[in-house]
Amino acid sequence: MNIILLGPPGAGKGTQAKRLEEKHKLIQLSTGDMLRAAVASGSELGKKAKEIMDAGNLVPDDLMIAMIADRIDQPDCANGFILDGFPRTTPQAEALDRMLADKGLKLHSVVEMKVQDEVLVGRITGRYTCAACGAGYHDEFQKPKVEGVCDNCGSTEFKRRSDDNAETVRSRLAAYHAQTAPILPYYEGKGILKAVDGMAGIDEVAEQIEDALGAA
Ligand code: AP5
Repeated sequence: MNIILLGPPGAGKGTQAKRLEEKHKLIQLSTGDMLRAAVASGSELGKKAKEIMDAGNLVPDDLMIAMIADRIDQPDCANGFILDGFPRTTPQAEALDRMLADKGLKLHSVVEMKVQDEVLVGRITGRYTCAACGAGYHDEFQKPKVEGVCDNCGSTEFKRRSDDNAETVRSRLAAYHAQTAPILPYYEGKGILKAVDGMAGIDEVAEQIEDALGAA
């Protein structure tokens, strides 16, 4: 099963992708995580990407398309994948179609996570992750069971993303509305678009996604 999670920054794509990964034994392909790994490694791509990401803009399509084409070819994707953060523009959506057709693969569903803009700023500015294992948390909505200790690995080190500030979030939202939301009709036309209420609690959103996938 190959799925796209589509929604604005902070909609919960990463949170739900992790759950789907575990439940359906799929691989989460997050272009944001891949870019952050490139930034951390200090590669040429990372150097280019950091400035663009910190301004809340989109990294050029050719770089993103090459990155995903390479990743989908890895053997761990054979059982299926969840695209989180890709495609984000019409050229990326069209390139993905060509890539999948070349490999004899197809998309099962595109799940749109609908959340109002006002809620997203609070979600993003409250977000943090475990510095050791990457488990995601939120100051208010998803606290660790023991304060200051990761539920998953016991680490006491946490980090926040450099683009998770109110100013950059507004640019990221503007980029979503201008460049990403216009691809929704493309998938609607193919009959594979399902919408879920991303304003609901994390467990409820997960149930809605399961229903949407089951009904696909
Ligand atoms: P990326 O890393 O993809 O960021 P994003 O799309 O802005 O999405 P986020 O990771 O911020 O949010 P999310 O939807 O995953 O939310 P999460 O689950 O963490 O991209 C970063 C940058 O990289 C881009 O700005 C761009 O520059 C570049 N880039 C990446 N891909 C690109 C591409 N294809 N082309 C060009 N450039 C690209 O949830 C957020 C918080 O809310 C968490 O704390 C969570 O605990 C909480 N939460 C989640 N769900 C709920 C809920 N239902 N109720 C309450 N709280 C919730």
